[in-house]
Amino acid sequence: MSERRTAADAARNNGRPADPAAPLVRVRALMRHFSLDRRHRVKAVDGVDLDIPKGTALGLVGESGSGKTTLGRCLLRLIDPSDGSIEFEGRELTDLGARDMRALRSRMQMVFQDPLGSLDPRQRVFSIVEEPLLLLTDADREERRRRVVEMIGHVRLSEAHLERYPHQLSGGQQQRVGIARALVTRPELCVLDEPTSALDWPVRAEILELLASLRVGFGLSYLVISHDLAAVRRVCDRIAVMYMGRIVEEGPTQALFARPAHPYTTALLSARLEPEVGARAARRRLGGDVPSPVAPPSGCRLHPRCPIAVEDCRRVPQELLPIAADHRVACMRVTGDDAIDWPPDWQPGGDLKLTDAREETGG
Ligand SMILES: Nc1ncnc2c1ncn2[C@@H]1O[C@H](COP(=O)(O)OP(=O)(O)O)[C@@H](O)[C@H]1O
Ligand code: SF4
Ligand SMILES: [Mg+2]
Repeated sequence: MSERRTAADAARNNGRPADPAAPLVRVRALMRHFSLDRRHRVKAVDGVDLDIPKGTALGLVGESGSGKTTLGRCLLRLIDPSDGSIEFEGRELTDLGARDMRALRSRMQMVFQDPLGSLDPRQRVFSIVEEPLLLLTDADREERRRRVVEMIGHVRLSEAHLERYPHQLSGGQQQRVGIARALVTRPELCVLDEPTSALDWPVRAEILELLASLRVGFGLSYLVISHDLAAVRRVCDRIAVMYMGRIVEEGPTQALFARPAHPYTTALLSARLEPEVGARAARRRLGGDVPSPVAPPSGCRLHPRCPIAVEDCRRVPQELLPIAADHRVACMRVTGDDAIDWPPDWQPGGDLKLTDAREETGG
């Protein structure tokens, strides 16, 4: 804890001018704990480091409850972190007051999972998309109209849609409106929290394709939060895998799909991508349930579920360390490209919790 504070304080106090080579977003030692009562806290985000270079898309994947949404919300300061540092273009966000933060809001926006729930049912699409321009910019009425019309075209809807109410649109159209609203101020960063998981195929594929082309067209950076690995693979250059509040693996999308290194990533991929992983890897699942985030396991948090855990895993917390130039893993048994000796009798003893409550209830 004291080490983490030192890292965060160092990042805050450097006072250096913005570095043009700095990543758009730089997160260090980030924590967000929720107090349940006087004695119990959920460590939703518990010491996360990550970078999002300008113009790139980072996918954040993991089981439900691993802390992805909390991390995304902290990043935009929709909730305040408990500790740690978040820099946007080299500028520390956690120290900014409400006024300075408002000035930055137009440059960082969010798309939510539930398109209908995130759109005001009493407003027409025009007002919904116009709202961030009203709140966050000085654009006059004519300029706002011009920008709303332009943006609705970019998300491949027509001007006729601007007069409708959200309930008069399909799920895919509602999410296009959510994307238009997020991008109308032309932000540099967009956090997309499960942007397609409420949608059916092929609408899901259309929205992914739209997100990929908007990113290139506008030179955007994305943080794409998802349990849907196919979605992040389509849109993201890099992937970070989160488990119980921490990143356990981070690397280029291609490398991570071709050679998942951490046991948790291996299980996550084989749970969803069995046909693609094919004969190369047997179906690998983790035993047991996700432990309570109020009392996370000691040492490596995966140890009660990990098929290759050794005694030290109970004691020694794992840091993200490089296994290749651009690929980091938090596992003492993974130190390079050497294949892991998976136990031949590794059987699924439990299941990964990949969906969230909304999807499970079909809502
Ligand atoms: N406002 C809150 N109060 C208490 N616990 C919370 C709150 N928000 C999230 N949590 C808890 O933090 C953990 C991480 O949640 P979340 O960030 O939503 O995970 P994910 O998006 O990966 O499913 C979960 O255990 C969740 O119950
Ligand atoms: S450190 Fe140990 S328990 Fe954690 S993932 Fe590696 S082998 Fe498994
Ligand atoms: Mg979530």
